[in-house]
Amino acid sequence: MALLEIRAVAKRFGGLRAVDGVDVDVAEGELLGLIGPNGSGKTTLLNVLSGHMVADAGQVRLDGRSVLGLGPTALTRLGVLRMFQLTRVFNRVSAFDNLIVCGLALGLDQGRAEQRALDLLGELKLTHVMHLDGGQLSGGQKKLLEFGTCFMVPPRIALLDEPFAAVHPTMKETMATFIRRRSADGQTFILVSHDMPVVVELCPRAVCMNAGKVLADGPTQRVLNDAAVIEAYLGEDAQAAEAEHGRA
Ligand SMILES: Nc1ncnc2c1ncn2[C@@H]1O[C@H](COP(=O)(O)OP(=O)(O)OP(=O)(O)O)[C@@H](O)[C@H]1O
Ligand SMILES: [Mg+2]
Repeated sequence: MALLEIRAVAKRFGGLRAVDGVDVDVAEGELLGLIGPNGSGKTTLLNVLSGHMVADAGQVRLDGRSVLGLGPTALTRLGVLRMFQLTRVFNRVSAFDNLIVCGLALGLDQGRAEQRALDLLGELKLTHVMHLDGGQLSGGQKKLLEFGTCFMVPPRIALLDEPFAAVHPTMKETMATFIRRRSADGQTFILVSHDMPVVVELCPRAVCMNAGKVLADGPTQRVLNDAAVIEAYLGEDAQAAEAEHGRA
């Protein structure tokens, strides 16, 4: 049985089918890449999985149990943790306390939360800024901190929405190393990224979405070489070129 079963999930915004009948299984310990052109429905799917949006149809099971319709708090307690495409940290709380707050909310006692926070700050190379407020951190440091909050208690599944976007290459490597290490330890991930070299390197399997549907699902390199996937990305480039041309 898959750890996460996504069946015929659909989500519309008015007439727009943002997620349109998605079926995906994620096995325990898998590091699944979720790719697709802009607007293909990746973030919307993660929003449904994390309970931040309610699907219009379909089914989601975690460990065989239906979780569709549960809110973010209930899903977090069940171990579905996520990172947002637009970074969310507490700006007026120190980096250290950002982690502590998450640890306490996830049921750690103060002592264990502090130990865990110090370990994560070290691993994510944020120890030197641990006493700065979230709002004083650079964009990349905020991403690393938000990333850390997902791992105060090892999640059942971590949903990462473009963790590498606009992050300095050194920090990107810190994050990739962290993901690689946790993956080797059996952590399950869905990783949304437009950074194809990193997806190829980290993810043995990828799912490509386009216009709300799954276009391809399989070994990452095979998905990237799939004619329909190439066409979807080229279509996006062609539209961008057309828009550019129209402006000129
Ligand atoms: N809250 C919303 N209200 C209305 N439309 C939305 C909303 N959220 C997303 N959409 C639309 O749904 C479609 C899918 O968007 P989504 O953000 O899921 O795509 P994505 O694959 O994450 O794109 P990107 O790679 O640019 O992050 C897009 O057309 C988007 O404009
Ligand atoms: Mg997105």
